Formats: sequence, structure tokens, C-alpha cells
Amino acid sequence: MSIHTLQSHWLPACRKEELRRKPLAVTVLDQELVLFRTRSGVHALMDRCPHRNVPLSGGVVQGDRIMCPYHGWEFDGNGVCTRVPGLCSFKPGEHMNAAAVRVAEQDGFIWIKLPEETPAAEGESAPASLPFMKDPTLYSFVWKTAVRGTLLNAAENLLDATHTHYVHAGLIRTDKNRQRVKACITASGSGVEIEYSGESGQAGLISRIFERDRQTSYGRFLMPGVAQIEYRSSKGLTLLITALMKPTSADYQDIYAIVTVKRGLIPGSLKKLVITPFLKKALKQDIRIVEVQQAALERAGGEDFHSTQADLIRPYLEQLMRGRVYSSRVEKTVYLHV
Ligand code: FES
Ligand SMILES: [Fe+2]
Repeated sequence: MSIHTLQSHWLPACRKEELRRKPLAVTVLDQELVLFRTRSGVHALMDRCPHRNVPLSGGVVQGDRIMCPYHGWEFDGNGVCTRVPGLCSFKPGEHMNAAAVRVAEQDGFIWIKLPEETPAAEGESAPASLPFMKDPTLYSFVWKTAVRGTLLNAAENLLDATHTHYVHAGLIRTDKNRQRVKACITASGSGVEIEYSGESGQAGLISRIFERDRQTSYGRFLMPGVAQIEYRSSKGLTLLITALMKPTSADYQDIYAIVTVKRGLIPGSLKKLVITPFLKKALKQDIRIVEVQQAALERAGGEDFHSTQADLIRPYLEQLMRGRVYSSRVEKTVYLHV
């Protein structure tokens, strides 16, 4: 997977809540950044003081500035050095500035846009939209985890139905109770969606407890790292699970697992209490298998994959990761035994 492709997108850096008064160090695609908040908003700089390269994240925020913990140089939100303590006549100069990084706050997350050596003509000009985060009829909760593996393999794992009988045996599906399911794949823009219909509910525990009358389910991926599973009944949304992936490096992803349910008679917080142990267990099983895969890939020195028609999503993920934008819709229908 091309890191360059990922680099050309807005990427999540952290949740809004993770950045408080203290500066926060975050690593995105091996780049060390410092985030800090002032009255004028959130700022991001490379986490490297231009003076002696000490991380600025060890410093403190003073008014509108961040102050380096070593010799007290101060920088504003654009990285401009505004103070060098001890210097009798301070004259601003570019060589004294810290490198600024574009930053945005949206849908409960702080996003950054890394500088590119050769800016792509077509990069995403805004962070991916997570509209469910601000829908008042929905209740979302988030937990953070991480996986050692590529973003592509982690996304494939989440969106692939055929591993669920084995990795999540009994919890999501069972090998004995398979059904013939219609899968309609639509790729458009920077994303792909698979609509599964004809599955009356999964045989596993999660479905039996949380789903009454399943009508349709969806698997979606949106560049650069939004993988989503949605379950719908005749009454609408039952459960929406979104993995927002932050590539710390090519082979390591921080994952924000966002679980969304409909607000209704049963309070969202109660649903959260009931559903969380099941989902955490499933996620743990997924993380384990992706890490086993990653370790094997590292030992072998790379991938030598062989796919079939049942590996529905992989070809689209690979193309998207290579930078493809589907300017017109690409549609395909296949049947699967899941
Ligand atoms: S290293 Fe930052 S002020 Fe000297
Ligand atoms: Fe899984």
C-alpha cells in the first residue's frame, strides 16, 4: 500500500477529548506532531523544536503560544517563533520557526493533513465526514484500540464476511448455519459499499441478542481509513460499527471503534453497557488474527495472496489505496454462502 496515497488525505490525529490543556504528542505515518489548544483553536506543529530539536510536546501552552521545555523558545499556532529568552534583541526569522501542519476539528475528532513532498493534484480537501456523530436521533460511543498490521489488511478483516465463522465462531456466525446471501457492490468516489440482502440474521450470539428482524446489512470503506458495518431492520438502523483508523506507521493502526445505536425507549447508555462486552470480544479476536497475519508477513518478507470471488472487498480496497477515484459508479452483484 502506498503511504504516499494515505499521506495525501486528511487523517485523524485524536479524539477531541484527548486534547486538553497540555500539548499532545501524536504520531501519524511516522511523523511526530504536537497538537495544542489555545483560545483561537487547535494547532498542529511538527514535534521538533527548531533550536535543539527537543519535542515541543514536553512544553506548556502559554496564552496563544507553546513554549519549548528546553530553553523556553515560544511559537504561535502557525509555528512562528515569537520569543527567544535571553536574547537581547529578538528578530523573527524563518530558521527559528517550527513547521506547521494543517489541522481541523470535525465530528468529534481532530484531523491533520501532513505536508507532501509533491502535493497531489487531487487530495481530499476535507476530512472524511462522519455524519452519524452529530445526528441527534443516534447515540454513539467510542473506544480506542490498536492493531499491528497494514491499514488495508485491517480494513479487509473488518469488512470481510467469510472469516466470521471461524474467527468469531458462535459470536457472529457459525459454519453450520450458512445462508445464500446476495451481495451488491457499489464503488463510487473514494469509497466502496457492499449491501448484503437475504440474510435473515446471523447465527451467532450477537445477532440473536441484538437483532430481531434483519433486513439488510452493509459493509463500507471510505478513504483513507473509515471501515463501517451497518445492520438494518424493517424499522431502520439497528447497529452501526465504524472503525476509524489512524495509521501511526504503515504497519500499525490506532483504531477508534465507534458504536452507534438509535436513541429510543432504551437509553443509549444502557445499550452501550450490554453491547460493549460482545463487541470488545469480537474486536479482540479480529486484532489477534490480523496480528498473527502481520507477523507471518514480516517473517516471509511480504504478501503472496491468492483471492477468490468470495473476497469481495479486497480488489476495491487495493484500488482505492492506490489512489483510484471512481468517477462513475461501478456495480457488481455476487452470491455468497455466509
Ligand atoms: S531546544 Fe527548544 S528552546 Fe532549545
Ligand atoms: Fe472480524
